[in-house]
Amino acid sequence: MVNSYLVGALGGLALIVILFLAFSYISQRHKPLGERQKKKLEQEDIETDFILDTIEDGVAMITADGIVHLFNPAAGRISAWAPNEAVSLDYKAVLNLVDDKGQSLPDANNAFAQALATGHSTRDNDATLVTKDGRKIPVSVIVSPVANTVGRPNGSVVAVFRDIAKEKEEAAQRSDFISTASHEMRTPLAAIEGYLALALNPKTAQIDNNARNLLEKASNSTKHLGELFRDLLTSSKAEDGRLISYPSAIEIGEILQQVAEAAKFPAKNKGLELSYSVSADGAGGGSKVVRPLYYAYVDPNRIREVFQNIIDNAIKYTNEGQVMVRLTGDDSIIQIQVQDSGAGIPAEDIPHLFQKFYRVDNSSTRTVGGTGLGLFICRKITELYNGRIWVESQFGKGSTFFINLPRLNAQQALEIQSKQAATISPMDKPL
Ligand SMILES: Nc1ncnc2c1ncn2[C@@H]1O[C@H](COP(=O)(O)OP(=O)(O)OP(=O)(O)O)[C@@H](O)[C@H]1O
Ligand SMILES: [Mg+2]
Repeated sequence: MVNSYLVGALGGLALIVILFLAFSYISQRHKPLGERQKKKLEQEDIETDFILDTIEDGVAMITADGIVHLFNPAAGRISAWAPNEAVSLDYKAVLNLVDDKGQSLPDANNAFAQALATGHSTRDNDATLVTKDGRKIPVSVIVSPVANTVGRPNGSVVAVFRDIAKEKEEAAQRSDFISTASHEMRTPLAAIEGYLALALNPKTAQIDNNARNLLEKASNSTKHLGELFRDLLTSSKAEDGRLISYPSAIEIGEILQQVAEAAKFPAKNKGLELSYSVSADGAGGGSKVVRPLYYAYVDPNRIREVFQNIIDNAIKYTNEGQVMVRLTGDDSIIQIQVQDSGAGIPAEDIPHLFQKFYRVDNSSTRTVGGTGLGLFICRKITELYNGRIWVESQFGKGSTFFINLPRLNAQQALEIQSKQAATISPMDKPL
């Protein structure tokens, strides 16, 4: 955490210095000069070159037409392009950012393209750059527009980028440690849970009411601790892409209905009404039709975890009224909606809600226990299946969580199911 702030701060500082250099470089070139001024500028040019040559970050200036105009030695080291080769080439050839599958990023997700198109600073802390010799390296990129002499963007951008392979490696080690520790701690915890269950069982132990009361509290806390370890394990695995998933063609309606049915009991305990409905169009709820089948290529256990988390939250953060679970979709998308009449979420918290350990801190949530891992895990699992999760909420008026998943048609679902049936492996898990 501290490291990433430090990296961010250093990156910011480097960017300010570089933008200043770029600005003076441009402004100097456009003024008629006296002899003394010329000397001064020569001196400044030497200093500018010195800084750009020695700085550890890669620096590239790209003109409005997408041509690389400046490429410092560190940029050359990171990308394996010699600076004199890179200059005058299209930036997409030299600074090729790709996705997980090695495909070049579309302009909408490309920090360079976005800064060139919008004239605003962009940042991507988790990009992958393909070097000239074909290696894929993780980089963080900050791209900022260059201003002309009167302070207006002139269409060019300056990019500062760094190789973050080492930081990623350290993060993976930290996550590995959390995984191992939480996994190891689950074993003794399961033993404690077992002994508490024996102590609470009248067939195996005689205890008075006071002791029963205390042991029940201990048993509940042990269960919470077990859930916390499980969430820590899942989130650290999700972070570095080690989340185990056995996807198959799964009918989402069946799973969502099971989760909603199971949640009716805790909802009723809080005096809440929980409803479940399926519809065939984008309206959600509405008139009931012959139940459409919504197939998605997901691991049923993982997706169940997502639905459970969202519905649990809706119950947990709602004190009166109802929770409505809806399933809807069109030809290409399945949409799950979980609407509640609860506390709602302040607008300023919404952008952070799906981050690890983020909890809204106000009087309506402070008394409710939780770790802030649930929605992070939901996002990671949803993204694993190329889905999207988001929330619409008004503080004090309730929230609606949405999950979109790519939909398989019945034919595709059948093909996947029969292919899997033909190749039964010991890894296959029952639903
Ligand atoms: N339906 C909801 N209504 C209001 N606030 C919500 C709702 N769902 C989530 N939140 C807010 O978002 C925060 C993050 O939710 P998340 O599920 O990640 O963590 P949590 O519920 O606090 O803990 P846990 O890890 O046990 O799920 C919650 O602390 C809460 O403040
Ligand atoms: Mg939660």
